[in-house]
Amino acid sequence: MIEIVEPQLDQASLCEPILLLLPGWFGIESAIVHYVQEIDRLPTLLAWSQKQVVGFLALKQHNEFAAEIYVMAVHPKSHRQGIGRQLVKVAEAELRKLGVEYFQVKTLGSSSQDPNYAKTRKFYESVGFKPLEEFLNLWEGNPCLQMVKKLPPY
Ligand SMILES: CC(C)(COP(=O)(O)OP(=O)(O)OC[C@H]1O[C@@H](n2cnc3c(N)ncnc32)[C@H](O)[C@@H]1OP(=O)(O)O)[C@@H](O)C(=O)NCCC(=O)NCCS
Repeated sequence: MIEIVEPQLDQASLCEPILLLLPGWFGIESAIVHYVQEIDRLPTLLAWSQKQVVGFLALKQHNEFAAEIYVMAVHPKSHRQGIGRQLVKVAEAELRKLGVEYFQVKTLGSSSQDPNYAKTRKFYESVGFKPLEEFLNLWEGNPCLQMVKKLPPY
């Protein structure tokens, strides 16, 4: 039984252990430090199971119409159990209440050939995001794929 708790600030201490368990995605220490700082500043949904945090999704709202999945992750022992899908669903419901219409996520693009991020893109596609554009110069040394989805009206 998974409970998704509405977005709150200052959740990084509960999210960092999950980032540390996913070195295939979050293997660079400076990147983890950066994510931890940002998660504390961003509204973050938590997925709880048996009093443990098993996943999270940090939201960044850019303007009244547009928001982004800044970072999300699920505990590796709980992958492929529908937790990521539930986190996105609840995040979208929160954004639609605020009138947000466009939802985006940036992830590693397919020209990187990274097998882990190929799975990540499959996940985002499965929850309705479409690839919009790959940027080669936004992230130093890594192709950044912008994926987008139109949210239905509330
Ligand atoms: C990406 C991630 C958040 C997905 O969470 P999850 O709870 O494992 O995903 P779900 O179980 O909700 O999967 C929903 C659908 O996505 C697709 N999907 C998920 N993982 C997949 C994989 N490894 N390979 C192919 N498709 C996959 C499937 O269509 C799946 O539905 P199905 O299981 O009924 O076939 C999780 O795997 C994760 O933490 N990955 C590492 C970190 C990461 O990539 N974060 C995002 C980048 S910042």
